[in-house]
Amino acid sequence: MFWTLITLLTLSLLPSPSLTKNSTLHNPIFPGFHPDPSCIFLPHPNQTFYCVSSSFNAFPGIPIHSSQDLQNWHLIGHVLNRKEQLPRLAETNRSTSGIWAPTLRYKDGVFWVTTTLVNDHLPQTEEDRWDNIIFSSSGDISDDASWSEAKHFELVGYDPELFWDENTGKTYVNAAHAWQVGAYIVQNEIDLSNGGELIGEWRVIWNGTGGLAPEGPHIYFVDGLYYLLAAEGGTGVNHMVTMARSKSVQGPFEGYEGGNPVLTNANTSSYFQTVGHADLFEDAKGNWWAVALATRSGPEYLHYPMGRETVLTAVRWEKGGFPIFTPVSGEMSVWPLPVSADTISPESINSDAEELLTFGPGTNLPKHLVHWRYPNPDHFAVSPEGHENTLRLFPSNINLTGLNGNYAGPEGQSFVGRRQQHTLFTFSVDLDFTPTDLEEEAGVTAFLTQNHHLDLGIVLLPDQKTGENKLTPHLRFRGESYLPVTKEVAVPVEEEWRGKTLTLEIRARNETHFEFGFGLKGGGDIKIVAVSGNEVLSWGFTGALLGVYCTNNGNGGTTPGYFSNWSYVPRGQFRG
Ligand SMILES: *[C@@H]1O[C@H](CO)[C@@H](O)[C@H](O)[C@H]1NC(C)=O
Ligand SMILES: *[C@@H]1O[C@H](CO)[C@@H](O)[C@H](O)[C@H]1NC(C)=O
Ligand SMILES: *[C@@H]1O[C@H](CO)[C@@H](O)[C@H](O)[C@H]1NC(C)=O
Ligand SMILES: *[C@@H]1O[C@H](CO)[C@@H](O)[C@H](O)[C@H]1NC(C)=O
Ligand SMILES: *[C@@H]1O[C@H](CO)[C@@H](O)[C@H](O)[C@H]1NC(C)=O
Ligand SMILES: *[C@@H]1O[C@H](CO)[C@@H](O)[C@H](O)[C@H]1NC(C)=O
Ligand SMILES: *[C@@H]1O[C@H](CO)[C@@H](O)[C@H](O)[C@H]1NC(C)=O
Ligand SMILES: *[C@@H]1O[C@H](CO)[C@@H](O)[C@H](O)[C@H]1NC(C)=O
Repeated sequence: MFWTLITLLTLSLLPSPSLTKNSTLHNPIFPGFHPDPSCIFLPHPNQTFYCVSSSFNAFPGIPIHSSQDLQNWHLIGHVLNRKEQLPRLAETNRSTSGIWAPTLRYKDGVFWVTTTLVNDHLPQTEEDRWDNIIFSSSGDISDDASWSEAKHFELVGYDPELFWDENTGKTYVNAAHAWQVGAYIVQNEIDLSNGGELIGEWRVIWNGTGGLAPEGPHIYFVDGLYYLLAAEGGTGVNHMVTMARSKSVQGPFEGYEGGNPVLTNANTSSYFQTVGHADLFEDAKGNWWAVALATRSGPEYLHYPMGRETVLTAVRWEKGGFPIFTPVSGEMSVWPLPVSADTISPESINSDAEELLTFGPGTNLPKHLVHWRYPNPDHFAVSPEGHENTLRLFPSNINLTGLNGNYAGPEGQSFVGRRQQHTLFTFSVDLDFTPTDLEEEAGVTAFLTQNHHLDLGIVLLPDQKTGENKLTPHLRFRGESYLPVTKEVAVPVEEEWRGKTLTLEIRARNETHFEFGFGLKGGGDIKIVAVSGNEVLSWGFTGALLGVYCTNNGNGGTTPGYFSNWSYVPRGQFRG
């Protein structure tokens, strides 16, 4: 007791090594489809970090994550959570469309999210491609209902952010001009008193350093100077973060001579490629941090089904200088993380905990499950009467490809999935499905976009083995991609298995290949129907979703599929 006390006293008088010892940080902090992160730190009431990220056509959209230690991150809600907030998401065409690059900011009790609803429909003009919008919440942001409807403002461009200038008392919106018609960072003044009305004209404040498409601007006022951060190079392997500064919020901004890019993994052999689109924030101790997007794909940049993920890095920002970013990697030594938490809790988005969903009576779909655009709510039911502990999906007329692999029409697709968040995983569900009409289908999918997905379903077809016309349930694997996909397979379900509950499974065999299999529920054995390289799901702006679907493939059938025992088992997280 006595010695313990002495020891404690001695320790508290000496500079404690534990206070200065670096922490180990693991990237990505938000594994799976979470691009274009933007974060803030709120000292009060609970020293909490909040982040948002892009969701494209996924709904609910604009996920919000929070943390107090920068290690355990929790999905607390979604900014875009009701169709009434932004009906136009239902009309987007092509997988590059939807919600791009939200910026999260906080001012005087109000949370603000600025973003762009992009519609890449064809034919297209720059004027009708971009719908720039503002959401706000002055309540508890984990309560979805606290988020406002979208307020629209005019900008031929994207990636807007709000900046409150303490010197002039004015509020600015900074954004990227549509780069095909002139690549600059632009600024305007905005009045937020009625949700967001532009006051002036858009002015160019910086042209970037000469890289492709300067975008994702953020201004920070630090030690008397305005620092402007931007992304350049496009979101592929040439992606980078560049900076400039000015004495005035309105510019002119001067690039960091000799110091740009301040962060990139371009031209390296790092496993983490495409690092860029960053945002900076300071913790309670005055340490700076940055989030950015990255792709675990290096150096070949061929296999990255999880798409663009969110990474964190430490930043040294000394008085009078530009910030110095620590290059991004999978395991990093960084200065002490806010609260030491040695274990990641099972509820954290970055944990390796298994997921088992049983769809019990009185429960709802968990909030990390997403649809592609707005679903038809009548098509989804948890534990319907007579089918307790199942998720019932009524079929949509369109399948996962929809119309042309781009548009889906107003009807919506009967699909729900979760992000692939581990390099190696096994995803399986049990399915009860007794199709009665031609082309009725229910199954599991690894879905990246409407024109990039791999599906294993039970489908009613004329017997493919005997060639007879008799409609017979088949196991069918088929896929869509811009790259060649594994040939379609359709085999009749063995006679003694018809009408029984089957287990359908998608498994990452290794870093580059997925396999699709099925078995009798509880039977143990899974028979592999198809193996596919995952480069066919490595494309574009989004990341793979693993989920279930039900469709009549346009033939009018109405038989529902009953899914149960949804299981996602992480089996390996590669960090390079
Ligand atoms: C702050 O933390 C306390 C203790 O963990 C918790 O009870 C409270 O709900 C938190 N408040 C907010 C606004 O998150
Ligand atoms: C969607 O885009 C495709 C081409 O990508 C085009 O053929 C089709 O007309 C578009 N549909 C709508 C409704 O914009
Ligand atoms: C940006 O480049 C344009 C030419 O494309 C030039 O007219 C303009 O002065 C430049 N603006 C700034 C702020 O450097
Ligand atoms: C990567 O290398 C290419 C070719 O040398 C060069 O053009 C490009 O600027 C480099 N990118 C970065 C971000 O350094
Ligand atoms: C500790 O973290 C800081 C900030 O990331 C970094 O600059 C420094 O190199 C790290 N120190 C060690 C010994 O790794
Ligand atoms: C991954 O699996 C595929 C398909 O079986 C195989 O061709 C490939 O060699 C495997 N890759 C590794 C690294 O084991
Ligand atoms: C989707 O449905 C259309 C008919 O609506 C059909 O032509 C197409 O083959 C189906 N494709 C996939 C991959 O589901
Ligand atoms: C649920 O699925 C898991 C993984 O496939 C399996 O181990 C378990 O036995 C299943 N449970 C039930 C109740 O079917």
